[in-house]
Amino acid sequence: MRIVETARELSDLSHSKKQGGLKVALVPTMGALHEGHRSLIHVAQQHADFVIVSIFVNRLQFNNEEDFETYPVTLDDDIAICRSSGVSALYMPSSKSMYPDSFGTSVEVSGLTARFEGASRPGHFSGVTTVVTKLLTASAPDIAVFGQKDFQQFAVLRKLVDDLDIPVEMVMAPTIREEDGLALSSRNVRLNKDSRRRAVSISQGLFHSLTLFQSGVRDTQELNEAARKSCADEIAIDYVQIVDAQTLENVSEAHVGDVLLFAGTIDGIRLIDNIIFTA
Ligand code: PAF
Repeated sequence: MRIVETARELSDLSHSKKQGGLKVALVPTMGALHEGHRSLIHVAQQHADFVIVSIFVNRLQFNNEEDFETYPVTLDDDIAICRSSGVSALYMPSSKSMYPDSFGTSVEVSGLTARFEGASRPGHFSGVTTVVTKLLTASAPDIAVFGQKDFQQFAVLRKLVDDLDIPVEMVMAPTIREEDGLALSSRNVRLNKDSRRRAVSISQGLFHSLTLFQSGVRDTQELNEAARKSCADEIAIDYVQIVDAQTLENVSEAHVGDVLLFAGTIDGIRLIDNIIFTA
């Protein structure tokens, strides 16, 4: 596995692989890799011959300094996971090389970023779109893989590549869950035993709503409410909302393909999850 630290090295490596006829995939991450990331890597390997994983804890997308300071960093484990997963190259830029002192550009997607995570975490999405633009530019991948857990992020990034004509196929990989349903997240390690137990009620609510949908309920207020009510009292809910998967606009009647978005905070730890309605 090659480890590269600068955008130039990454760009040279990717172009040489593409010239050699290989299909290149990028899996952008902020490290603290877990089974969810392994599954992103696996999906990338099904689509491409040469898989690059990037690890960069992107300060720009944290609207809260404490969240950035406490974000888990497990570099040695991450490198081992990438090696054992058969990753072809790892891109680990330093902060200085990603954002030198002279850095002064910001990439913004309007519309889709106004609500949900965008409303609750001002500046978050411009941080994400700025760093992902840099990562896509440097690695010039044929495909890029992101997790469904960050559903709004995926919708925003899909809009970014459409609007800027970035020639990359965007692939969304399904959310990986613990046995009890909790969506895997690097932030889960910060949950204590009690919060961890209560956090399960989030996915229980989402699945309850899905079951109602599958039994014929279409009224989104009823479906939203069902998910909300299942949540443990200790979870401060930010939003529970069924939206159209492309526009992220509210819908009054749910259809197959719509998505139920959730965000809430437990013991100061923000958790997000979602479920796509299936027949
Ligand atoms: O989803 C993430 O881990 C991050 O938002 C991403 C896409 C790697 C950008 O920093």
